[in-house]
Amino acid sequence: MTERLAGIVLAAGKGTRMKSDLPKCAMPVLGVPLGGLVGRAMRQAGADPIAFVVGHRGDVMRDVLSDSYLYAEQTEQKGTGHAAMMAEQVLSEYEGPVLVSAGDLPLIDGASLKKLADAHRTGGNHATVATVVFDDPTGYGRILRDAKGQPCAIVEEKDATPEQRKLKEVCVSVYCFDAKTLFRLLPTLSAENAQGEYYLTDMLEAVYKDGGKVETVIFEDAAVMTGVNDRWQLALAAKELRLRILERHAKAGVTIVDPDTAFIGPDVVLGMDAVIHPNTVIEGETHVGKATEVGPNTLIRDCSIGDGCEILMSHLNRAKVADGVRVGPFANIRPHAELRAGAKIGNFVEIKNAVIGEKSSVSHLTYIGDAEVGAKANIGAGTITCNYDGFLKHRTKIGDGAFVGSNSTLIAPVEIGAGAIIAAGSVISHDVEAEALALGRARQEVKPEWAPHFRARKIAERQNQGSN
Ligand code: UD1
Ligand code: CA
Repeated sequence: MTERLAGIVLAAGKGTRMKSDLPKCAMPVLGVPLGGLVGRAMRQAGADPIAFVVGHRGDVMRDVLSDSYLYAEQTEQKGTGHAAMMAEQVLSEYEGPVLVSAGDLPLIDGASLKKLADAHRTGGNHATVATVVFDDPTGYGRILRDAKGQPCAIVEEKDATPEQRKLKEVCVSVYCFDAKTLFRLLPTLSAENAQGEYYLTDMLEAVYKDGGKVETVIFEDAAVMTGVNDRWQLALAAKELRLRILERHAKAGVTIVDPDTAFIGPDVVLGMDAVIHPNTVIEGETHVGKATEVGPNTLIRDCSIGDGCEILMSHLNRAKVADGVRVGPFANIRPHAELRAGAKIGNFVEIKNAVIGEKSSVSHLTYIGDAEVGAKANIGAGTITCNYDGFLKHRTKIGDGAFVGSNSTLIAPVEIGAGAIIAAGSVISHDVEAEALALGRARQEVKPEWAPHFRARKIAERQNQGSN
């Protein structure tokens, strides 16, 4: 039986030092909101349910975070202890260990949180505090110990004596508590301190005085437990996270051509022998198959991409790409595009809400929107599906093996049958049956020997004008 574990993420603060309209925990890191990085680490540690305490611009926080979380509201930001208390709104029924973390730790991971929860369980603790030993502990709450060396309190920098400030073991705002003990003792905290706030850090002393068991777990990898307060710290932490993600992929058999310019989001899955070329950003819930080459200069978000594809200098967003597909350079593959196996999408092609069938080719300068293109169809350069009449969107259907000549204008709703040929430059506004030829353009007229007569006339006109 898996043991119960809940999570609380404190994300109601404004993050004043970020100097942003966005709340701190909503600020994006590799495509994920900062608070979401903490939520996903808790999930990886096995926490369920997970409650987010939101407050300052709580609407924005709920908006950017997954709806798989519970939300509690802290309407006034009266400190971290007060914030944790708000989580009782949604966790009152819960009994057992609960991880509590600030929402601003970009590098926190599931393994570290699991280690904390395991130590908490193994020790039979009521409170377990993650700590880090810093050479320069400035700004952090310091861990105080009793005569026996047991942790007994945390003192904030602003409330600390000069002697206490010399202590190097600090609180990083990551804890595991017994939930019942937490919610029982939180209301007993006082706000009589330098900042006039209810400090979650004071829970340590509260549990200690209550006769509960308190323990610290020291984390050697300080980066994992480091919070960010301003945008430079955020930038440096994002860089460190980025490198750690790249290293994980490289060690699993992915070629990272240039670690300085590859940006892979934390939830991206890359297959073995995938190659990530320079200046490539892959974010969100993206899956890239085996031996697929991505980049240079490519941005992919929330896509599923098959094996053996080549995605060059292109933008793909919420699209599905099967095996052996070639995209780019300079293609724009928009939401609900589906490129089936072996399809080829070339330069300056935009595909939106459309299926491109197996081995079909859309090689240049084309817009295919709200359409279904069958297998082995050839869409010539400059083809446009006119899918929008200014009021409604309409669909275009192109059958298997159809050949659409260059610069064709397909006015939807319209259907082109299998094997049909559309003459180049056609405007097609009526359905074309299978195997037919459709011409929808002005007939060409040729006038032999017309050009010299024209030139002679124009030269004469110019001379007349000059003599006036
Ligand atoms: C806190 C700790 C400090 C620790 C440091 C580590 C306290 C009193 N101090 O200080 O010991 O060394 O983290 O980074 O806990 N929040 C709310 N509601 C509030 C206040 C804060 O939800 O009313 C949230 C914030 O959004 C943030 C987290 O709590 O995610 C931490 O708040 P922050 O103000 O950054 O705490 P620190 O002053 O850094
Ligand atoms: Ca902080």
